[in-house]
Amino acid sequence: MICIPIVGPTMAQALKDFDACQSLADIIELRLDLIADHDLPRLLKEAGKPCIVTNRCKTEGGQFKGSEEERIQVLRQAIDHGAAYIDIETSTPGPLLKSVLENKGNTQAILSHHDFTRTGDKLEPLYELMCQLPGDVLKIVTYAQDLNDNLTMFKLLARARKEEKKLIGLCMGDKGEISRILTLMMGGFLTFGALATGKESAPGQILAATLKHVYRVNELTAATKIFGVIGDPVSKSLGYLIHNRALRETGLPHVYVPFWVQNVTKFFNAFEPYISGLSVTMPFKEDIQKVLDEIDPVAQRMGAVNTVVRQNNRWVGHNTDGPGALQALTAHGDLQGKQVLILGAGGTAKAIGQEVVERGGQLTITYNRNREKAQALANELQCQLISIRAVDQQEVEVLINCSPVGMTPNINETPFPARLLKPNMVVFDSVYNPTETRLLKEAAEAGCQTISGLEFFINQAAAQFELWTGKPAPVPAMRQVLMDHLNRTP
Ligand SMILES: NC(=O)c1ccc[n+]([C@@H]2O[C@H](COP(=O)([O-])OP(=O)(O)OC[C@H]3O[C@@H](n4cnc5c(N)ncnc54)[C@H](OP(=O)(O)O)[C@@H]3O)[C@@H](O)[C@H]2O)c1
Repeated sequence: MICIPIVGPTMAQALKDFDACQSLADIIELRLDLIADHDLPRLLKEAGKPCIVTNRCKTEGGQFKGSEEERIQVLRQAIDHGAAYIDIETSTPGPLLKSVLENKGNTQAILSHHDFTRTGDKLEPLYELMCQLPGDVLKIVTYAQDLNDNLTMFKLLARARKEEKKLIGLCMGDKGEISRILTLMMGGFLTFGALATGKESAPGQILAATLKHVYRVNELTAATKIFGVIGDPVSKSLGYLIHNRALRETGLPHVYVPFWVQNVTKFFNAFEPYISGLSVTMPFKEDIQKVLDEIDPVAQRMGAVNTVVRQNNRWVGHNTDGPGALQALTAHGDLQGKQVLILGAGGTAKAIGQEVVERGGQLTITYNRNREKAQALANELQCQLISIRAVDQQEVEVLINCSPVGMTPNINETPFPARLLKPNMVVFDSVYNPTETRLLKEAAEAGCQTISGLEFFINQAAAQFELWTGKPAPVPAMRQVLMDHLNRTP
């Protein structure tokens, strides 16, 4: 179940928000401590969904300003008005807690505990204590300081499932995001999702629409396989959009989540039993190799892994960047004997450069600040190296931007002077945000054939999907979801 918290700040806003909740929420939480001058009977009547009535005190992250007696009196009113659930903190003074639990009628009591600072590794004693109280649902919500805190919560959820206890088990904060996505498949009673950005009731809360439509949290089961991306950071990665759409489109009950990792070995040792495949992004494309059983020849040649697949219980590293870019490029003609100029000399330049050389292209790469690094790559690829400032002396048939120049927010920048763009050229930009960079726009105006970084991104993701699932990737749907997102996001 997805629960949307209604956070006011006014009655009018709360009533308005009910409409938007109807297609997304299975249950609504009325955060009375956040709704000024609330009219509880009216809220319960107009919510249109079962409600949890919560009147949170300050020590548990709420805003209620009165006495404990006054705070609990509101929960008694909720019971009198037939609320489906009330949320009462285990930190409530004993006599008040007892009086509510003994007189809750048909209302179900959610016994809650919140820790806004940490998760720790001692949730089980707390759970056992809470099990002794006459509540209907237990709620343990902690703050994830570390990605592994999610696993502590998953283990508790597994125990509660085995003991047939209803448990809301979540971790807050950016590092707890995966618990909000995966808690239901781990046996959790519900997960919270915000109605809109700015309406979160706790740190790290994801949009309810994203939980429902992108991650499909209500459809995940114990049979769901978990895929994801590891990186530092991962908040900008759009892989979750295209891979979850591809899984949905293919009718697979699996999920793809972002893992914000700091130490690849620590992550892999802890999460290995839970995951079936990974995308790997900066800065782990080299580091990941030390935990794998096997690296395929393409990734070995590139010295970088962007895809990890579990194959017969062995972990195998692949690289789909080079082949993905090549597929986009060769759709516009053969590279044999072509004068190819790559702007930049980083990881992408290496992946694409190798493919160009292998296809018989005459490759030149450029350096900007770091000549030494670029020289090492030129030596490895046995190609020519020039300064970025010398490109006007270079014959170019295929131009490939492998630098971040022109990427959002610096959309007015271009890595190549417009005056040097000629109608016979093929121009490929690795940057996909924006989809039409200044370089591509000027290239199209000059009559060049243009290739967007979007095609590169989709191709490498489609190859990842096929490696993980063994099924053809639904490329048009993957392209569409990405285009929709990029066109919507400024
Ligand atoms: N479409 C896709 O799926 C996809 C996949 C991977 C990467 N990409 C894009 O490809 C780009 C490069 O990624 P990467 O992983 O190769 O990065 P990287 O390893 O950091 O390399 C970046 C390269 O760009 C050069 N550079 C940086 N700023 C420059 C400037 N102002 N003028 C000229 N050169 C400049 C750097 O040269 P110096 O060190 O000399 O400054 C370096 O050689 C990124 O924008 C990324 O978004 C796209």
